[in-house]
Amino acid sequence: MKKILVTGGAGYIGSHTVVALQEAGFEPIIVDNFSNSHESVLEGLRAILGTEVKSYNVDCNDKAAFRGVFETEAPVAGVIHFAAHKAVGESLQKPLAYFQNNVGSLLVLLELMQEQGVHNLVFSSSCTVYGVPDVLPVTEETPIKPPSSPYARTKQMCEDILRDLAQAPGNDIKTILLRYFNPIGAHPSGRIGELPLGVPNNLVPFVTQTAAGWREELTVYGTDYDTPDGSCVRDYIYVGDLARAHVVAVQRQLDGKAAEVETFNVGTGRGNTVLEVVRTFEEVTGQPLKYRVGPRRTGDVPAIYADATQAAEVLGFRTEVELREGLATAWRWQQHLVSLSNG
Ligand code: NAD
Ligand code: WQD
Repeated sequence: MKKILVTGGAGYIGSHTVVALQEAGFEPIIVDNFSNSHESVLEGLRAILGTEVKSYNVDCNDKAAFRGVFETEAPVAGVIHFAAHKAVGESLQKPLAYFQNNVGSLLVLLELMQEQGVHNLVFSSSCTVYGVPDVLPVTEETPIKPPSSPYARTKQMCEDILRDLAQAPGNDIKTILLRYFNPIGAHPSGRIGELPLGVPNNLVPFVTQTAAGWREELTVYGTDYDTPDGSCVRDYIYVGDLARAHVVAVQRQLDGKAAEVETFNVGTGRGNTVLEVVRTFEEVTGQPLKYRVGPRRTGDVPAIYADATQAAEVLGFRTEVELREGLATAWRWQQHLVSLSNG
């Protein structure tokens, strides 16, 4: 079985990708410092897969320890680099921590890949690189806009680093940049999902926590945008579909089909408003959700969704799970969290 190092593999998207990799016949190996995840994720993975997933509690910025993982696990066929800090608001408070962790860890990883002769990298980028786009849907050629936060800047910088590396003479690392839209939902088993640490910033965890009674009510941030119902539009992609995109990208590289650097939007190609998410969630649970309309949230993009053509035509990747089903899995995961918190 080909070994794929999954940095940040204990996190939200990483853990679902570990499942998808293992199911596709790869051996995923987690490298995570558990700064934004919990070791219990490993139990969830064992329950789903019926086998132990190898995991190293290592910080990707710790070059010596990270080198040890490469050496122990050689030969490594490829790396998927999820490890990063991801909270937009926090990045405004602690920009240096974001540059250190997100940009610094990529540099360490690339140096180690060169040193250890590992040639394939899939990198977690984000639709945040597009800022407020002038034209919808966004294609991979849509211009990158000045970043709205240090977090967004780290993703742009990492992309630039990888494109510059691809141009360098003698470079032998091939990179696929995946620009995720808004991942939602959880594994259908309800055993892994998005871990809520504090008050969620993201819409779907806030919705499920409100329905569970953990939050008083949802605030819908603005209904005065130029969108079908006035609330913001996003492209909500089911996390299991997003996980599959990584497997397809890894396979493309191992098949020798990938160019030096390739970029793909990973979204559904459809936009939904915040109020549509709320209504669909109400249908899923059969209960009204407590919400009120509040002012706009500073920095919000009014509307963005993917043109998913490139991923379909080049990678053969298409999403399969609809918003409704994705929200149902998010609700199941929330119920699992409720049962844990009730002891
Ligand atoms: P997450 O926080 O759940 O997972 C990230 C994992 O990386 C965590 O388990 C954390 O402990 C680990 N980690 C962080 N820094 C590390 C380090 N230096 N060394 C080792 N491990 C480290 O986040 P996620 O939602 O799964 O996001 C994964 C990636 O996808 C990130 O790069 C994120 O920026 C990107 N992304 C996320 C979204 C989203 O909405 N969730 C959207 C676009 C892009
Ligand atoms: C979605 C919509 C909110 C919470 C963020 C990052 C971005 C990317 C994905 C990583 C928006 C509305 C939300 C609430 C609300 N991450 N909302 N009430 O803003 O698209 O993007 O996560 O790369 O970089 O910025 O996602 O889930 O926060 O919001 O009305 O309590 O839900 O206004 O329209 P967003 P989100």
